Amino acid sequence: MVLQAIKYTRGQLEILDQLKLPHQEEYDHIYSSTDAWHAIKEMRTRGAPAIAIVAALALAVELTNMKLSSVAEEVQVFVTEKLHYLVTSRPTAVNLADAAGKLKKVTEDAAAKQGANGESVRDAYVNAAEQMLVDDVSDNENIGKHGAEWIVKNTEAGKKGPVSMLTHCNTGSLATAGYGTALGVIRSLHSSGSLKHAFCSETRPYNQGSRLTAFELVHDQIPATLVTDSMAAALLRLRGGSENIAGIVVGADRVAANGDTANKIGTYSLAILAKHHGVKFLVAAPRTTIDLNTKSGADIVIEERPGKEVTMVKGPRHDGVNLDLAVVETVSIAANGINVWNPAFDVTPAELIDGIITEVGVFEKDSEGVFHLEEAFQAKGSEIKPSTVGGL
Ligand code: MRU
Repeated sequence: MVLQAIKYTRGQLEILDQLKLPHQEEYDHIYSSTDAWHAIKEMRTRGAPAIAIVAALALAVELTNMKLSSVAEEVQVFVTEKLHYLVTSRPTAVNLADAAGKLKKVTEDAAAKQGANGESVRDAYVNAAEQMLVDDVSDNENIGKHGAEWIVKNTEAGKKGPVSMLTHCNTGSLATAGYGTALGVIRSLHSSGSLKHAFCSETRPYNQGSRLTAFELVHDQIPATLVTDSMAAALLRLRGGSENIAGIVVGADRVAANGDTANKIGTYSLAILAKHHGVKFLVAAPRTTIDLNTKSGADIVIEERPGKEVTMVKGPRHDGVNLDLAVVETVSIAANGINVWNPAFDVTPAELIDGIITEVGVFEKDSEGVFHLEEAFQAKGSEIKPSTVGGL
């Protein structure tokens, strides 16, 4: 059975509550943009593409079920206000602002049409939001295919036989509409017989690796091992050769025009490790994550989250033998009164990145060490325009 983080039919949206994973699979109903805002803020849904799609579809559900004004401009203004509100839920991932900018434009165009009314504006919005759900899955499958082919062709390990890869955070079906980005690359390597082993890092402090990526890898029966973040260097040094580790593949929350990449905290240290050990460091992301309006990583706002995510751990009680799912406990793991810094993301400079895997191909730097990501938007037949985050 395929893992589904987002269940949508017109007028109805449910999300898998990722705070309860990996032990309980419970879906929450999302009826409105307010519900979506809270689900995103509380991280019941997370991952750059999933956040954008849940926000877009929540407003589609709200519009489908509400008593609608017959006046086109009134519906358009309502949509714009809700989009502005949704974008305030989390600041770093650009996909949400990108989706909001595109949906705002669709709604404005629909309202400007001859004979437009409330229903026609709503229908234009709902169709565009639903299309985002469909496109994300096919984009991810293409990311997986391009990434797997590139790794087999361009790495020392890949030339020798099936490769092992390390990944960080969760970038799979749970973080997207389906299949995943960096985890999609690992899925694709696995399905083509080119994967020896996947390693996933725990991803402190929120444990997206041990709770979510590990859950997906077990679910898909992909051979995999969990390591803590601090074990990555030893893994590359001591097991790199025997495991045929080709590289590290991660997702992204925002790729700046120069290739600097914001992703889950800990990504930057992995990129430094990859450079030191001579293995490839790859970023896998759809073009909706590339923001040509953000010139470099220095312009990316990094979300800081509550200190208790570092000082506390939450989970079902374990008596040493059995899990008791009925009793969820929070355990303190730090000295009372200590100050905490909890940035949710870091920025990996472009110089440490060997390739950016998108749905239209893998982008590498030129001989001067410069990425030309604008080319991703010039692909033949491409209707996608660069991210509009500044323009919302
Ligand atoms: O804080 P999160 O769990 O939303 O962070 C997620 C990540 O950093 C992912 O790597 C990124 O969003 C890409 S998901 C395809």
